[in-house]
Order: sequence, then C-alpha cells, then structure tokens
Amino acid sequence: MDARDLVRSEKLVRSVKVICTAQGLRSLRSAWRRRRSDAVGLPRRGTELARVPGEVEGADPEPGGGVVRFARSSLRVRVTTGGAVFCGWDGAEPEPSYALDGPCPEADERAELEPDTGGGWRVVSERVTVMVSRTGRVEVRTPGGVVLRRDLPPRWWEPAGAPGPAEPGAGVGGEGARWMQRSEVAADARFFGLGGRASGPRLRDGVYRLWNTDPGGSFEPGDDPLYLTMPVQLVVADAGTHLVFHDNSWDGSVTLREGEEGAGSGHDRPGSCRTRMDGGPLRYWVIVGTPARVLHGWAALTGAPAVPPQWALGHHHARWGFGDAAEVRRVVAGYRERDLPLSALHLDIDHYADHRVFTVDGAHFPDLPGLAAELLEDGVRLVSIVDPAVKAEPGDAVYASGAAENVFVRDTRGHEVRGVVWPGESVFPDFTDPRVRKWWGGLYAERLAQGFSGVWHDMNEPVSFAAFGETTLPRSARHALEGRGGDHREAHNVYALAMARAGYEGLCELRPDERPFLFSRSGWAGLQRYGGSWSGDVATGWAGLRASLSLVIGLGLSGVPYSGPDIGGFTGFPSPELYLRWFQLGAYLPLFRTHSAISAGRREPWEFGSEVLEHAAAALRERQRLMPYFTTLAQLAARTGAPYVRPVWWRTPKDRALRDCEDAFLLGDALLVAPVLEEGTRRRPVRLPRGRWYDTVTGRAYDGPGKVVLDAPLSGIPVLARAGSVVPVTGPDGGVELEVWTPCQGRKGSGAGTLAVETGDGWEKPELLRFATRLRDGALTVEREGGGEVGYPVRIRGEAPLEESKPPRRTS
Ligand code: GLC
Repeated sequence: MDARDLVRSEKLVRSVKVICTAQGLRSLRSAWRRRRSDAVGLPRRGTELARVPGEVEGADPEPGGGVVRFARSSLRVRVTTGGAVFCGWDGAEPEPSYALDGPCPEADERAELEPDTGGGWRVVSERVTVMVSRTGRVEVRTPGGVVLRRDLPPRWWEPAGAPGPAEPGAGVGGEGARWMQRSEVAADARFFGLGGRASGPRLRDGVYRLWNTDPGGSFEPGDDPLYLTMPVQLVVADAGTHLVFHDNSWDGSVTLREGEEGAGSGHDRPGSCRTRMDGGPLRYWVIVGTPARVLHGWAALTGAPAVPPQWALGHHHARWGFGDAAEVRRVVAGYRERDLPLSALHLDIDHYADHRVFTVDGAHFPDLPGLAAELLEDGVRLVSIVDPAVKAEPGDAVYASGAAENVFVRDTRGHEVRGVVWPGESVFPDFTDPRVRKWWGGLYAERLAQGFSGVWHDMNEPVSFAAFGETTLPRSARHALEGRGGDHREAHNVYALAMARAGYEGLCELRPDERPFLFSRSGWAGLQRYGGSWSGDVATGWAGLRASLSLVIGLGLSGVPYSGPDIGGFTGFPSPELYLRWFQLGAYLPLFRTHSAISAGRREPWEFGSEVLEHAAAALRERQRLMPYFTTLAQLAARTGAPYVRPVWWRTPKDRALRDCEDAFLLGDALLVAPVLEEGTRRRPVRLPRGRWYDTVTGRAYDGPGKVVLDAPLSGIPVLARAGSVVPVTGPDGGVELEVWTPCQGRKGSGAGTLAVETGDGWEKPELLRFATRLRDGALTVEREGGGEVGYPVRIRGEAPLEESKPPRRTS
C-alpha cells in the first residue's frame, strides 16, 4: 500500500465514522437531496451536435478590431487601450464579467482590422498582432511576427435543436454549448498560474480542473483541484511571455502538455493546451509583454490588489481549537514573555456559539470586546473566521434576518437549498445578488463590535459536507448572477469572489477610515480587489511545505499577491526541523501565519525546543526588520500588479534554467530567498539570475547566472541581495533605514530601490521614493530620484568583490 492508498483508506475510515454520527447522517441526507435536486433540476444532455466555425464569410470593422464572420460562428477581436486583446466567439462580449474591475477598457482606436493573405484577417496593434485564418485559427504574434500562441478553431457541442450561435452573447447567463479549444505554444514554453495549485509553480503535463474544491482533510502536491482555481495561465517562452484568461466561470479543465525541442526527427513539438468548458461563453483575453508588463496589464483589467493594513504584514498566530479566552491570553503572553513579535491572533469556529457564524460562545469568551482591547494594548489584533453557511434554525438571528430578506440560495422548485457545514444543517447566502451582498456586509458590524480587526473567509468554495458525491451545492441550485439568473454551474467558481466583495464593501462602509483586512480560502479572477488568500489545509510533511511555496507563487502569478501557508502544516505533528523550515520560509511570505487543525499539535514557536525557538525568534525579528520593505511591496503590488513573491525568472524569463527552478523565489526586486524544503539539508544549491548577488549573512558576492552552493544551517535559510539594491528596513532606533547593497563597478552596475513612506492604515496613498545607487571609482553614491535629500540613514552592505577590492566609500 503506498502513501496515497493509505490516505485514501484513512479518508474512507473517516467517512464511515462520520456517517455514524448525527452530522454524518445529515451529510448522508444532504448528499441524497443534492442528487435528487440535480436529477430534476438540471437539463438532460441528450443528443449533441458538434460545430466548428467553418469558412470565413466576411468581416466588419469595429473600434480596436472587428468581427470576422464564419459560416457557423463569428469572432470579435478587440484591442483595448491597455494593450489587452479580447477575443469573443459566437457574439460573446467582454461584459458582463465577474473578473473585470469596472467597465471593460476602451477599444484602442489605432488597432485596425485588415484583410490578410489567404482569405484571413488580421488586427495590428502596437504590442501585438492577431491573425485570424479562413477557418478560425487565431495566432497571437509579437510585433516582430513571432507566434506566441496559436489557437486552433474551437469546437462546440450543443443540444440538437438548440437556438444556435447567432444569438448575441450566447452562453453568458444561459446554458450555451460545451466547448473546447486547443492551443499551441513554443516548444520551450513553460506554463504557470491557473490559481492555487499544489504541484507547481511550473505546471507540468496534466489535466488541471477549474472547479473550486475543498479536498477534504488536507492536501499534498498531487491533489488537484484545490480551493482557488481560475482560468488564467501565464506562458513563458524565449519568444516572449503572454497571459491568457478565459473569462468563463463554468466547470472546465485545462490540459497542458509541455513541448519538446528537436523531438524525434529533429523537429520541435510545440507545447499544447486544451481548454474545455461545460458551458458559458468562449471569450478570452490575451496580454503580451515582459512578466512585469503582463501582470501590470492583468491588474489593470481585473483590479489593483488591495493593500493590507500594515499590521497584517506582521506575524499572525492561529489555531482551530483555542478553548477559551484564557488560552488566548496564555498564547499572547507566551509571545510577549519571550519578546517575540506578534501582530494578530485568529479565532476559528470554536469561538462561535455552536459553530454559528456571527455569534460568540459567551461561556468561553465572556467579554470578547474587552479581550480585544486588552490584546490591542500589546499591539495584537484579533481576526475572525467567517464562514458563509448559516445554521438553518428559526431561532438563529442571522437565519431569521436572512430568511426575512429572502437571501438564501434556492432550488428550481423555490425551496431553500439545505446543506451541512460545521453548525449542522445550513443555508447559503446568494452572494451573486447585490441585495444579498449588502445584507451580508452589514452583518460585519457585529464582528467589529466584538473587537475584531480583520476577517478570514473560509469554507466558501462553498462546502457542504456530503457522504458521497461533490461536497458543494447542487449544480441546479439557482443564483441571481447579478439579475441575469442562472444556476450553480455558473455561480460556483465565483461564489467566494462575490462573498469577498460583500465582506470588503461591508467593512469599507462600516469602518470607512481603515483599509479592510480580508483573506479568503476560495476565490476567482479578481479576488485581489478585496483581499488575499491562504494555502488552506496543507498536509504536514515536507511535501506540504513544498506545496505551500507553489501555491503562493502560483497565486501571485494569477494576480493574487497576498497569501501564505499554515506554517507547520494544518494536520498532525511536524518535527522540530520541519516546523522551523516552514517558519523560516513563512517569514518571507506576505501572509506569515502559524495555524493548525483542532486535532493537530501546537504551533507556538516555543513548543519545539530551545534551538527551534532561538532560530524562529531570529526569523521573526528579521521579518520585523523587513517591515518597511513588505509595506513597500504591498504598495508596489497595488500600483503595478507585481506580486511580492516572484518566480526567480521574473526579470530574466529567457533564462531557461530559471524557468525550471521551483525551490527559490524573489521577494520584490532585491532579495532572493532559497528556503530549505528537504529534511536534513544544511547546504543547498541556489540558482542565481544574472547579475551580482550577496549572501546576506556573510556578505560574500556571487555572480550570476549560474549555480552556487550555500550554507543553510538551522539558524537560517539562504537569502541573497541583488547588488545595487536599496532595501528599506527598520533600523536599530525603530526608524526606517536604507540598506544599500554595494553595486557593481561602473555604469552597468547601477541599482535602485523604492520606499513607500508609511501613512498608516487609512486610504491615503503613500509617496513612493525611488533611490538610485552607483559605484564609480570606488565611490558609492545613493541618490533620491527627482533630487532632494536621501532623508534616511544609509547602511552599506556587501563586500566589494576582489577585482574591486577598494572598500566602497559612502558619498551621499
Ligand atoms: C477549514 C479551514 C481551516 C479551519 C477549519 C475550521 O478546514 O481551512 O483553516 O481551521 O476549517 O474552521
């Protein structure tokens, strides 16, 4: 029996045990109900007819491109002002869309539709050329003519006798057809993104499902899909980087196959990607450019990432199973007594009364506002879990208010859909209804009155426990979908996104002077507008540690830059070494949070012996020292879409060895972090991007590109700093100081860095100060761009390499 079989059989034993409890019986009943609802509520797939676009018949120009007409379909191509290109088949328009941030960007009037040789058409724009062949093949090319992506003519399957494709906007809000599109990319291309995937960040050959899913129990690298999927892929090749987003929230899958160079006969085999959707429109966006440009374009389209309040960039401690207020006090005191920085403490479902959302168990947490105020004096905020399911019980105040306002999801016969979650039999608000979002947002007043400073959205895939079948709502469940009406097949993947919007907007209204702190287990394209995410229930083990890095990088490349794992893993008992390595990685990730399941061991840093405590304390102090850098990265993410945590190829996507490197990352522009992901490792190879890098512990310089082997003692993981960079840190007196890493000699070696001048947790946009560094004739200069005083103490780090052995003099 291999490990997977063991997990499977454990899950089976667990489900048998569960079924023998009251909750188990409920989930058995609920599974039957779901099956019955779908049997009557879903249209049957009868005979289907396949369709392809057929031959081209003509074209009609429009601003930014136009519509190419085929015998059995049409394709709209529209270049927009930010450079993003929209392609919509069968009359699909960019709107309505859950992903877009506000109205669709304007058409770029300079892009024009022109006839092409061979009966096709093309749209030429500044950054990209789109070629449409006579049969509906679409090529996305660089201005130099290199093909980045070739989408073969799509194929639809629709019920025989369906009204057909001519309906404008077919598929949005309606059933539409199933469809499939096959695409080719360069033989050397690598795929990334698709939301949070445990087996990335490089997405190898395989099928990646697009259906937000709670894997149940915990997950490991092989488990897919997970909580937060989205149809956005980033493709990186020598010829260029591009992003493709299929704006369609239906169940689907993306099948990836990396290409092969010189395969067999000496010819390249292109990489391929097959996107299949069970319904909904065939429409997609393509953004072309450098990785930074592409992510910038993605944020312009789907919204700037919310900037977390500053305290949310510090250390958080969570646990499912803090028994009472005394235990919370004990944990916080543990941090205080050991002089360990702590920013926030999270209360899980056990602080609710009977697991009911928006309630407090008064027996165990008698004065929550008092506790919150007391903790705040120590600088510790309380964060509350918020689950979407509401206990379906007449006496429950939230249920009564929701029922009165008719906010819960209903089935095709008009009955409330009942599922099972922690509180027992539950109902689910329909967040795709603006009215319901407003109602739900108002409920956060109770959380604020209890003293909470932020919220943690959970179980929002949404989960409904089921003894068999899918652990979610029936697919036939009805949703408002902003007034268009539809069912769970279309609403499922955007449920958590809409819940995040409800929470975010509610908090903005209730506490207008503070930026909300919200993070969510599930979500979809655009989640970043409202907050971040976290890994979910990652299994404790070295594989889980690796998966947590994959998730954070993948989410960042999908546009959600703020996330982090459950440090130590959600389940079981990590060894002291595993806990420490997880902690050391977490200290460099945006959400730095220890968390675990109710049945799992403790996760306080002092629970693993004095050696771990000493090194974890060092990691915590380093995080504190880097706070001005993290605050700056949060601002940069909001303004440019660049994630805090970036793959090592971020600035050098043509470096193929870096594209395949999955065990290190760039934190902003300045730092390269090489976590330890294997047991017993005390030295590890680190692949460097081009340029000079300093080991931040020894100050030794290394020149990339290439591989170096660095010490990775238990006391700390290798972190390198880019020569010439300026890292804003907390100085010994508590103020900001600029850590300048000696640039290389001469013009080539100049460097830079940014500081976001902290303005608190309100909405004021901080000033961004840019600094430039240079080393010439042994003299190091640090200048503020745009002139003026540097204004902050400067500390020079990094030894001058041998050939430049004169010690650098500071001249600024
Ligand atoms: C889910 C969450 C986990 C939480 C638990 C209890 O499993 O992913 O973080 O502790 O529910 O609320």
